[in-house]
This record gives sequence, C-alpha cells and structure tokens, in this order.
Amino acid sequence: MILVVGAKGMLGRDLMTVLPGEHRGVDLEEIDITSPASVRTLLVTLKPRVVVNVAAYTDVDGCEANRDLAFAVNGDGVGHLARVSADIGAKLIQISTDYVFDGGKGSPYREDDPTGPLSVYGRSKLLGEENARLNPDHLIIRTQWLYGLHGKNFVETMLRLATDRTELSVVDDQIGSPTWTVDLANSIRALIDAECRGTYHAANAGFCSWNEFARAIFDESGMAVTVHPMTTTELNRPAPRPLYSTLDCGKLSRDTGFTPQGWREALRSYLSLRS
Ligand SMILES: NC(=O)c1ccc[n+]([C@@H]2O[C@H](COP(=O)([O-])OP(=O)(O)OC[C@H]3O[C@@H](n4cnc5c(N)ncnc54)[C@H](OP(=O)(O)O)[C@@H]3O)[C@@H](O)[C@H]2O)c1
Repeated sequence: MILVVGAKGMLGRDLMTVLPGEHRGVDLEEIDITSPASVRTLLVTLKPRVVVNVAAYTDVDGCEANRDLAFAVNGDGVGHLARVSADIGAKLIQISTDYVFDGGKGSPYREDDPTGPLSVYGRSKLLGEENARLNPDHLIIRTQWLYGLHGKNFVETMLRLATDRTELSVVDDQIGSPTWTVDLANSIRALIDAECRGTYHAANAGFCSWNEFARAIFDESGMAVTVHPMTTTELNRPAPRPLYSTLDCGKLSRDTGFTPQGWREALRSYLSLRS
C-alpha cells in the first residue's frame, strides 16, 4: 500500500487521484508528523510499502516568523517519517523545493549542484532532505512554483485580483518553471513505477518570470489586464527568494521515460479544468 501523508493539501489531493493500486491518504487529523509517537503509531498500524510525504509548512513568508514550526514540520517531521519507514521496511518519498538553492548559478540546477538556501523555509526543507536520507530507501523530489485546483496559488491570486483591476505589477526578476500539481503527481507516479531512488528534479518544461506567467494567465483566459514589471526588492517580501531557480529535469526523463509537458500547455490544461 502507498501512504500519502498530507493528502488534503494542494499536491496531495491530485496525487491521490493519480496513484495506481492500493493507496491511502492521511492528513493532520490522523497524523502529526512533528510527533514521533503519532508517526510510529500510524505507520506501524498501516504498514505501507511506500510513504509519500507531501505534508509541509508551505507558507514561505510565514516560516520567517515561525522558525521553530518550520523546522519542526519541514525538517524534524521528515526525520520521524524516515526512521519509522526504515524500521518497517518502507520506502520514503520526500517532496522538496528549488528554494534549497541560492539562485545564483545562472543555468538550470542539477540534482548534485551545491545547495545554499536563502530563507528559513529553504533551510528547513534542506534539513528535511538530509533527514529523509536516514532511510536508505529514499527518493527526494525537488519541484517548484506549484499550482493546482485544490490550494491557494499564484494563478488563482492573479485571476482574483483581475476581477476588480485592469493593471497589476508583478516581479520580473525571478525565473522558474510554473508547475501544475497534476503533472508533478504523474512525475511522482513515474518515479515510483520505475523504482527510482536518490534525488530527482520534477517541474513543467521551459521557464519564465512571474511577470511572464501572469501575462500568460491573462492571455489564456482572454482577460485584458496590463501587467507592469517590478523587482523583487520593490516587492519586499519577508523571505528572500532565489532569483534563478529553474530545475534541470533531464534525469527524470532519462530514468522514467516521462517528461512533463511545457509550462504553458500545463497552464492551458489547468484553466480548461477550472472553467
Ligand atoms: N506550493 C509550492 O509552490 C511548492 C513549491 C515547491 C515545493 N513544494 C513542496 O511540495 C509539497 C506539497 O506542497 P503543497 O503546496 O501541496 O502544500 P499544502 O497545500 O500546504 O499541503 C500541505 C499539507 O500538509 C498538512 N500538514 C501541515 N503540517 C502537518 C503536520 N505537522 N502533520 C501532518 N500534516 C501536516 C497541511 O495541513 P493544514 O493545511 O491543515 O496545515 C496540508 O494539508 C510540500 O513538501 C512543499 O514544500 C511546494
């Protein structure tokens, strides 16, 4: 049985629809990953063969103000899952982030590039990666810029803002790959089917700035909104972000035969489903 921890989150909901065979989802009512006892009780009772952890404290700016919670959930919580999954002979799959990189490389990040997180969120997720490796049978999947039908995300924010505005300013100096949670869920499935281990990158193909992404959202939705450029410095969010954090996903394609579609095609698929 495949156990999805964090099954009520944005990625978790789509993953539950994509996974093959026997699988079960749990979220905070059934497991608190910050509690070693909670983790042990549930995993020993359910005896999954694979544990996919998509639970996390994902509010990047919130992590700056709530450092202890960030490390407890994103770092220590993964350690509890790693220890118990190893004890029961299960594989641990941990979802991680491009925010473990500093964004200074200037070309797509490969799995073995040096990390250098800038934010509390990034540092806590990097601790999660280190802790996932406590289970020798682990798979770490780094992804980025997620949006999906079942969570707060950039696409929904843009469409909501455009209901009463015809002009917006969006940062144009952060570059990455917007990634639809359904395509990420299919990447996770492909990595499970191919019995991959170690670290992989998975994101929709191609890259853009948040500003270009916003313009694509309005173009594809047939909305006349002018999107002005602004800088990350001008936006002045609490957590620093990597400026260039595109992920090289060649290893995913080579080892599974699965290549996620381009980000713009994925956006079209998403918009067609929500209308
Ligand atoms: N969103 C992105 O852009 C993005 C980018 C890169 C990587 N990721 C990674 O992708 C994964 C999925 O992200 P997502 O956006 O789908 O997250 P999400 O929507 O925030 O879902 C996370 C789920 O985990 C649950 N949770 C929080 N604390 C928990 C705990 N202590 N024990 C058990 N469950 C707990 C949350 O419950 P509550 O809602 O009740 O708190 C929620 O249901 C995460 O690992 C995230 O770090 C996300």
